[in-house]
Amino acid sequence: MDKNCKMQQDSRIFVAGHRGLVGGAIVRALQAQGFTNLVLRPRLELDLREQRAVDVFFAQEHPEYVFLAAAKVGGIHANEAYPADFIRDNLLIQSNVIDAAYRNGCAKLLFLGSSCIYPRLCQQPIKEEYLLTGPLEPTNEWYAIAKIAGLKMCQAYRRQYGFDAIAAMPTNVYGPGDNFHPENSHVLPALIRRFHEAQTSGDLSVVIWGTGTPRREFLYVDDLAEALVFLMRNYSAAGHINVGCGRDLSVMNLARAVAGVVGFKGCISADPAKKDGAPQKLLDVGKINGMGWKARIDLDAGLRTTYQWFCDNVLAK
Ligand SMILES: NC(=O)c1ccc[n+]([C@@H]2O[C@H](COP(=O)([O-])OP(=O)(O)OC[C@H]3O[C@@H](n4cnc5c(N)ncnc54)[C@H](OP(=O)(O)O)[C@@H]3O)[C@@H](O)[C@H]2O)c1
Repeated sequence: MDKNCKMQQDSRIFVAGHRGLVGGAIVRALQAQGFTNLVLRPRLELDLREQRAVDVFFAQEHPEYVFLAAAKVGGIHANEAYPADFIRDNLLIQSNVIDAAYRNGCAKLLFLGSSCIYPRLCQQPIKEEYLLTGPLEPTNEWYAIAKIAGLKMCQAYRRQYGFDAIAAMPTNVYGPGDNFHPENSHVLPALIRRFHEAQTSGDLSVVIWGTGTPRREFLYVDDLAEALVFLMRNYSAAGHINVGCGRDLSVMNLARAVAGVVGFKGCISADPAKKDGAPQKLLDVGKINGMGWKARIDLDAGLRTTYQWFCDNVLAK
């Protein structure tokens, strides 16, 4: 296989985790851009924690490009409740896939990390070089350590073998296909569910977890998917790269925005007894913006599409 080739419309592209929020959006973006040769496997057919099964799959299918969007993912509660699962599953999945991709002659692999790799009290906005400059946020350190290992593995395979493995670190992502589980979801889908339930049952008030003061950045998943395809086509270097929209807001203001989209007009209060997580997480996206990619979908439009998807797909089931 020509290692210098660029991704072509008929290149064999494996999207690992294609049934997830991000993987599903990568498939949509690739199809919209005319890529026709996607290799997809549901977890029931290929458990990426199983090294032997992953090796056999790569030897048989020979994907040329890999988007590694399969991972064990969840919010604060899930991270705290299942630390062993988070560190074990993520280390297994990424080690198996990165190694098999290299050994079977893949042209390029894109690994997905997360903004939680950065120190808890990081200078804001967070530049790529702030990695490993301070202690991690304890509520998701298991997941973060696995993600740091993944991006370091990409760098190590590049350095030792010349394998073109790159790593993208997205901020919080939301959109159609999100997980709306009442306990194991991220803050934005959890708020959509909470406000929808309050609205339909006629509650006059909603209590949100934590103080409401932490500031967070949210990227619409189809924006992220476009960025990832852009990076696969245009970026080949050891340094990981942030992907975000470059704007943040407080969790309380996010709750107000969600309430507005759902049509909830009652009172919103905070529950300081619940953990907040890091005080602020805003990525510096100067590097990817400088390469020519910028997020396009604003929060209000993204929330409306996501709420509609929740009504049509989660409630309708
Ligand atoms: N969501 C965010 O806010 C966010 C933010 C930053 C970075 N990211 C990164 O983006 C990536 C994808 O996240 P996501 O939000 O799309 O998560 P998701 O919706 O939970 O999707 C994860 C996907 O991985 C698959 N998977 C999990 N374990 C597997 C296994 N053992 N074998 C095969 N497939 C397995 C899941 O399959 P099933 O459908 O069968 O469970 C699912 O399709 C992750 O690396 C995450 O760190 C996400």
